[in-house]
Amino acid sequence: MKISNRVLEMQESPVRKLVPIATRVKKQGKKVYHLNIGQPDIKTPEVFMDAINKYDTSVIKYSFSQGEPILIDAIRNFFKRDGIIFNENNVLITNGGSEAITFSTIAMCDPGDEILIPEPFYTNYNGFTGEVNVNLVPITTLAKDGFHLPKKEDIVKLITPKTKAILFSNPGNPTGTILRRDEMEILAEIAIENDLYIISDEVYRGMAFDGLEALSMGCIEGIDDRLVIIESVSKRYSACGARIGAICSHNEDLIKNILKLCQARLCVATLEQIGAAALYSLPTEYTEGIKNEYQARRDIVFETLSNIDGVVCEKPTGAFYVVVKLPVDDAEKFIIWMLEEFTLDNETIMLSPAEGFYGTEGLGKDEARIAYVLNTEDMKRAMLILEKGLEAYNQK
Ligand SMILES: Cc1ncc(COP(=O)(O)O)c(C=O)c1O
Repeated sequence: MKISNRVLEMQESPVRKLVPIATRVKKQGKKVYHLNIGQPDIKTPEVFMDAINKYDTSVIKYSFSQGEPILIDAIRNFFKRDGIIFNENNVLITNGGSEAITFSTIAMCDPGDEILIPEPFYTNYNGFTGEVNVNLVPITTLAKDGFHLPKKEDIVKLITPKTKAILFSNPGNPTGTILRRDEMEILAEIAIENDLYIISDEVYRGMAFDGLEALSMGCIEGIDDRLVIIESVSKRYSACGARIGAICSHNEDLIKNILKLCQARLCVATLEQIGAAALYSLPTEYTEGIKNEYQARRDIVFETLSNIDGVVCEKPTGAFYVVVKLPVDDAEKFIIWMLEEFTLDNETIMLSPAEGFYGTEGLGKDEARIAYVLNTEDMKRAMLILEKGLEAYNQK
């Protein structure tokens, strides 16, 4: 039977495609430290389950297509802390940030349209846009510039009549880069001058190190009608499996139209929304705590990487990822070799090949993404395994 070209043309997730190899070696008894996927090990705050357990209902009903009012209010209050005021019609609850990005793409673009995106970028953006035949046009950023944006004119020259939006994550996955206010203002200027939407993916907001702050795009003036902010409980609240995200925008016409997509998929899981409302109501000290934990992990990773011959990387300042240039020709081959051939006392690590995070052919072949999502002891061990593995690989 014929399979659609749309699906055939989609890439396999580079984060997940090596998982069968990891599963096989684990069955053979090898321990694998997973640094390949952004699945934090931090405990989901207890308020999540407490709120669900206290929820008094005899029937798990469909929720509203827009989402549970208690969660919408909690998200509005979360933004209010930064002076960003959303009314109750400005927020739509989605199945994770993932669905929020897909729905925003569908509402802003027709098939064949283009979205500008700084690369390397979160690889699933390819899926969210590719499945609706929208093309991502990469704005290349470089490790030597800390993956900060190039000059305005270099971005503007990528715009065509088909360009409908600029999409980015801040803090960045996979780079860990935090955009400066002046960069955000330039993106806003470009969007205003070229009548583009902005999709600001803020699922890692709050995870900013070294005293830096990841500003919400909602703090930048003059773009209310063209800005969509993507939210999620997955990372900040360590609740990836809850599958709760949100679209937040002052553009009520856009929201009204995205609501049609929400209605077509009926609703988001009711109980998880109740739990998520409790997460968004946690005080800011909660985020401070996890920020310190991730900063300690970042320090371990960066210190080890800085001492390995031939490894090149910039110190990430946010989220929980770092992109590293490895002293190998092909990072994917090295990652597979680490899984299949290498052990340190029957333990190994799994990284993500970074090539799939680039839109430009040929970039990232010798790079990997490390997600520092394990506790400090495990991170130390995993980084030692990486160091020994590279040594052994290059002596083959
Ligand atoms: C930058 C970014 N945006 C969105 C998502 C999607 O998150 P979720 O659908 O779990 O909210 C992820 C997940 O890793 C991500 O890294």
